[in-house]
Amino acid sequence: MKPAIHVLNGPNLNLLGTREPETYGRETLADIEARLTATAGAAGFDILFRQSNHEGDLVDWIQEAARTGAAIILNAGAYTHTSIALRDAISGSNAHVIEVHLSNVHAREDFRHVSLIAPVAAGVILGFGSLSYDLALHGLLAKASQPKS
Ligand code: DQA
Repeated sequence: MKPAIHVLNGPNLNLLGTREPETYGRETLADIEARLTATAGAAGFDILFRQSNHEGDLVDWIQEAARTGAAIILNAGAYTHTSIALRDAISGSNAHVIEVHLSNVHAREDFRHVSLIAPVAAGVILGFGSLSYDLALHGLLAKASQPKS
């Protein structure tokens, strides 16, 4: 069985492509999923790509990924800035999470400058538009191919 990487997307990311394109670009979540699936597949990894507008779904999916030993690329959307439940899901399940954002949240409103996820994430990539997801995947694949020290 191929190892899996779970890509989890939070609220309103189902609207990518039409949602504030000046901030988030014109690519849809399906476009990103297709690209990541191809890249991961070429490296021998499966991608499980999910989106939910509901915090509890994301909590369940983080726990599930951790249980199965899958690394997570997580764009928690606005829950990034508010959700103690997501943070606790990551720290409580020892999930290996790379936090991603399309936009540079630090160049935006003050309420976006705080991430409750970042302190429990293995890494954070933001501000590259949809390429943030690709960069996170490349990072995970490069790490996976490094000899264990
Ligand atoms: C986002 C940034 C968040 O502040 C916002 O609520 C989103 C998208 C991003 O990818 O840039 O929904 O996570």
